[in-house]
Amino acid sequence: MTFEYSSAPESKAIVTIDPVYKLFIGGKFVAPKGGKTFTTINPATEEVLAKIAYAEKSDVDKAVKAAQEGLKVWSKMAPSERGKYLYRIARIMQERAREFAVLETMDNGKPIRETRDIDIPLSAAHFFYHAGWADKLEHAGVGSNPKPYGVVGQIIPWNFPLLMLAWKVAPALATGNSVVLKPAETTPLTALLFAQVCQQAELPAGVVNIVTGDGATGAAIVNHPGINKIAFTGSTDVGKLIARSVAGTDKGLTLELGGKGANIVFEDAPLDETVEGIVNGIFFNQGHVCCAGSRLLVQENIQDELLEKLKRRMSQIRLGDPLDKNTDIGAINSREQLEKITELAISGDTEGAERFSAACTIPAKGFWYPPTFFTGVTQAHRIAREEIFGPVLSVISFRTPQEAIEKANNTPFGLSAGVWTDKGSRILWTAKHLRAGVIWANTFNKFDPASPFGGYKESGWGREGGRHGLAAYLKGAK
Ligand code: NAI
Ligand code: MG
Repeated sequence: MTFEYSSAPESKAIVTIDPVYKLFIGGKFVAPKGGKTFTTINPATEEVLAKIAYAEKSDVDKAVKAAQEGLKVWSKMAPSERGKYLYRIARIMQERAREFAVLETMDNGKPIRETRDIDIPLSAAHFFYHAGWADKLEHAGVGSNPKPYGVVGQIIPWNFPLLMLAWKVAPALATGNSVVLKPAETTPLTALLFAQVCQQAELPAGVVNIVTGDGATGAAIVNHPGINKIAFTGSTDVGKLIARSVAGTDKGLTLELGGKGANIVFEDAPLDETVEGIVNGIFFNQGHVCCAGSRLLVQENIQDELLEKLKRRMSQIRLGDPLDKNTDIGAINSREQLEKITELAISGDTEGAERFSAACTIPAKGFWYPPTFFTGVTQAHRIAREEIFGPVLSVISFRTPQEAIEKANNTPFGLSAGVWTDKGSRILWTAKHLRAGVIWANTFNKFDPASPFGGYKESGWGREGGRHGLAAYLKGAK
């Protein structure tokens, strides 16, 4: 006998989506000078959610001026008072958590289970954590008289819209900077709700400014002479462009870029737990995760057994309506991203790897990709080297620990890795030899505001979170 889940959709009644959104500058919502707008859609239904103001250079200019005014108030305020504002923001985010979760799910396509249990609580946690630091910066190991950069330009991607805002805004404010932030074009709505939270918390005008737009808007922020530091999360290609623009100026820069994380499974790993870690490593958030465990490195003698278990587990994954509380995999964020995933997966077929996809029913509307893995992948295949940023896993086998390390490190990236083994000594040995900023042992994709996050090589510069993340917002601190 088979049991079926009934549908259990979260109600949309809690969110109010305005037909048109303006820019948030100097504590107020203001229309863009050129009057241009773009639309954001729900990628699960392709329905238009709202029109969003498009910020041009002159609007960015206005936001930077507002941030300079905000900075005068904010940087002179007693640090303990700044901390109170951060606490207030964190508390309001908690109070409005369901509203944020439903809105994020609608705008991004990710399952409500994740926005409700991960994105929103972690975003609030980042504000709580940094609220505590605001009046203790001289004890953070960043020098005895740490000073903010001034006006910080922050550009964030669409995969964790509110969480990436929190990773950037919370440390910037705790260290006394003011902010001009640009959310991604497909997911601006929770940043605009956050702007309302800033008003509700009575944050002084100009401390946080939110300008919506595309890459040109982002470039206007990067190149603005009134900006003192840039913090960027997104693709490695844009990160390289930004590094070039900022070179030779006295702007500070942190970059969180792509990844191709190795999830390494040794023969003594507990296989059932490992399967959960593999699923969480690559299918969490539709695989739109820079630190995803997108390369499974498995010791050859256990490969068949592990993949049989993985197939069985993948047959249980539920793909569909992101607002349904039973959904595991939601919609791919955009048509462009779906095309990129599809193209890279096809290169796997044509280069000779073997595809397995879970048998999911794909909804008629919206953008979807079934959880998939490829076996027979070699180091030369594009699916072993390029970031797919979707629910597609490349399985590569190894025989010895040395071979595992060589293959894991054979990538231009260096953001994350996982190690699965019964032996503590093997965890330590493996971690020591991996070139990755974050290494999980017998788990994957776990995040905490106190833990620094960042990469080596083409995965970026600098760290976010923890004491290391504070240093990135303080001039002269290392
Ligand atoms: P993207 O890097 O173009 O976009 C990220 C942010 O940068 C957005 O807010 C965008 O408007 C802004 N931006 C774009 N061009 C800019 C420029 N010249 N100057 C300043 N800001 C600019 O990423 P996109 O196109 O959304 O995704 C492409 C690929 O990048 C994905 O398929 C994925 O592989 C990777 N990616 C990686 C992310 C990560 O967290 N590491 C996040 C998003 C995408
Ligand atoms: Mg959207």
